Amino acid sequence: MTFASKIVQWQKHHGRHDLPWQNTRDAYKIWLSEIMLQQTQVVTVKTYYDKFLTRFPTVIDLAQASQDDVLALWAGLGYYSRARNLHHCAQTVAGDWGGAFPQLPEQLQTLKGIGASTAAAIAVFAYGYPAPILDGNVKRIMCRYFGVDAPANAATDKVLWQIAEREIQHLDARKADDLRAYTQGLMDLGASLCSRRQPDCEACPLRTECYAYQHQLTEQLPRAKVPTKVLAMTMDL
Ligand code: ADE
Repeated sequence: MTFASKIVQWQKHHGRHDLPWQNTRDAYKIWLSEIMLQQTQVVTVKTYYDKFLTRFPTVIDLAQASQDDVLALWAGLGYYSRARNLHHCAQTVAGDWGGAFPQLPEQLQTLKGIGASTAAAIAVFAYGYPAPILDGNVKRIMCRYFGVDAPANAATDKVLWQIAEREIQHLDARKADDLRAYTQGLMDLGASLCSRRQPDCEACPLRTECYAYQHQLTEQLPRAKVPTKVLAMTMDL
């Protein structure tokens, strides 16, 4: 079984299936959840998410609101640039895209506050489009499973994106449910068994082929950044 098929199978049986944003294909609602989840825990997001959607049920409602109203609803969630970007993004979708979020990750990424991984998550969940995600949790899973033993930096990220691109291709791009389960499965595994500290490898169905597990490196992978000071010393700057 490929890495991706194992994730799909695990997600279907052991993953999360009743998060509020999993019961919709509405790109607006999915986008909102992904922005909130960028820096905030699921438990906290849940209450804000419902409150937000009650006040702004559509992207048009959000676009037409005042910035102060949007910020007031965001109060407590932190990282307030997210709220300003959110409002700006809603206005772009309402004005430039006729009120419908674009479908392609490249198009989604042109919108304020949407990076490569968030664009991919929206494309997968809303449209079933085969695009790889790569957030902090996914990086940890990939570094461990594929044995990416290199410091966290842009070059390592490039390698991880290549792995992410390669692995999603082992799924049938026509099976939207599998693409969704794979993407959600990576998030679920990263939030549960494959946690940063004390991962529960004994319960993990990927352990037999996990490089870090096989080499007793789960504590070491993913590697940290090399601090600038050390880098300067080794490079003799
Ligand atoms: N973190 C980021 N996106 C998520 C999602 N869709 N479900 C759960 N956690 C997430």
